[in-house]
Amino acid sequence: MLEKMGDFFDNRLIGYDEHQLTCIESAQEFYPFTADLLPKEAGASILDLGCGTGLELGYYFAVNPSAKVTGIDLAPGMLSVLKTKFPDKQLELIQGSYFEVPFGVEKYDAAVSVESLHHFTKAEKIPLYRKLREALKPGGYFILTDYFSLSDEEERAHRRELQRLKAELGIEDDEFYHYDTPLTVEHETEALIEAGFSKVERLGSWGATCALRAAR
Ligand SMILES: C[S@@+](CC[C@H](N)C(=O)[O-])C[C@H]1O[C@@H](n2cnc3c(N)ncnc32)[C@H](O)[C@@H]1O
Repeated sequence: MLEKMGDFFDNRLIGYDEHQLTCIESAQEFYPFTADLLPKEAGASILDLGCGTGLELGYYFAVNPSAKVTGIDLAPGMLSVLKTKFPDKQLELIQGSYFEVPFGVEKYDAAVSVESLHHFTKAEKIPLYRKLREALKPGGYFILTDYFSLSDEEERAHRRELQRLKAELGIEDDEFYHYDTPLTVEHETEALIEAGFSKVERLGSWGATCALRAAR
């Protein structure tokens, strides 16, 4: 069974936050860790790719209550939960795919993405990361906290299984279906560097989950 990406998350809205925080190893460490890496200056502008219900933003607003956040997500239900959580924050929410939504030029002090980008190929990510880099101000950076394949073979096996499932189900369109196909950290780093980021560092690791910092 494969569900379209936005539907998959909207169908699991009830209990989503609790599931993320209790069923994903070390989530209670990597969400606050990620938030703490974002700019602390008053009024800092942040772009969140795949913001969902805003778990990382809850931790971020606790350290920077006056941050201005733009969040992009495919799933309208996830965004409506997020909206009700932070009624008094400077929050712009865009429902759509971050592959298609324009980000603007030199608009953000930093960008963040947590547990969202492990569904896409390196080839899909390079133009996305190029667009993201252009949206960052000079000195800006991108924090990517996500889970990664631990070997090239694991990465290939996830991709093969997705292709097998799509063939079995007769799915031929180019829409995004929910199936985890994480890259290795090495391939993720290559995608960021090929998109023009100047340096990629691994700042945290929790099992297969890592926090990467890519400098504009
Ligand atoms: C596992 S949730 C993570 C949400 C949030 N960042 C968190 O950590 O709780 C993944 C989110 O990415 C969103 N997503 C996946 N692909 C997307 C795309 N191409 N454009 C925008 N959002 C996307 C999904 O709709 C979902 O809300």
